[in-house]
Amino acid sequence: MKVLNIYFSATGNTAKTAATIEKTVADAGHEVTTVQVKEGVQVEFLDYDMIFMGSGVYHWLPGKPLMKLIEKVSEGYRKSGEIQRNPKRRANIKAVTYCTYGGTHTGIREARPATMWMGQFFEHLGIEVVADWYVIGEFHGTWKDLSVSGRLGDIRNRPNEWDLKDLAEKTRAILSIL
Ligand SMILES: Cc1cc2nc3c(=O)[nH]c(=O)nc-3n(C[C@H](O)[C@H](O)[C@H](O)COP(=O)(O)O)c2cc1C
Repeated sequence: MKVLNIYFSATGNTAKTAATIEKTVADAGHEVTTVQVKEGVQVEFLDYDMIFMGSGVYHWLPGKPLMKLIEKVSEGYRKSGEIQRNPKRRANIKAVTYCTYGGTHTGIREARPATMWMGQFFEHLGIEVVADWYVIGEFHGTWKDLSVSGRLGDIRNRPNEWDLKDLAEKTRAILSIL
């Protein structure tokens, strides 16, 4: 399979998860393209059989650069007719949306809008979202205190080795159903 592994990471946590996905997909024998979202990046989503899309959660949503990219790409797909009302299912492409999140105020509930937002991009294209994953990610820099005082308790050093192992297991499992 041709696999796209696209992510946005402001402080490095999602970069770790994307690296885990990249290695797991490659070890399973698939062709993987990893794209870190930055200004000016271009991606043709419809060229892939399987897409992993991840972001840190910032104010309940994915990172602005990722949202900007999706908005721009969606506009193009609308113009070219790839996004239509009542979208027909594209049986040949599947997607997984995931995030890393701190959950300080309301736990996993404040991360769900981010994956749902990404998921709607795929569903508007008729692409089935086969899973949404949530990986805990510590706060860095001036926000560090939030890693010990929030709804999820002490989340320092997350994602840790166990989190990444769990993610690799999930990635292996989801690849095996396709
Ligand atoms: C400015 C900022 C806003 C954040 N807002 C949220 C939020 O609304 N909900 C949440 O669960 N985590 C929030 N977080 C925590 C991040 O989602 C978490 O640390 C994530 O792993 C960061 O990913 P990254 O290192 O790949 O950028 C926020 C972090 C920062 C720096």
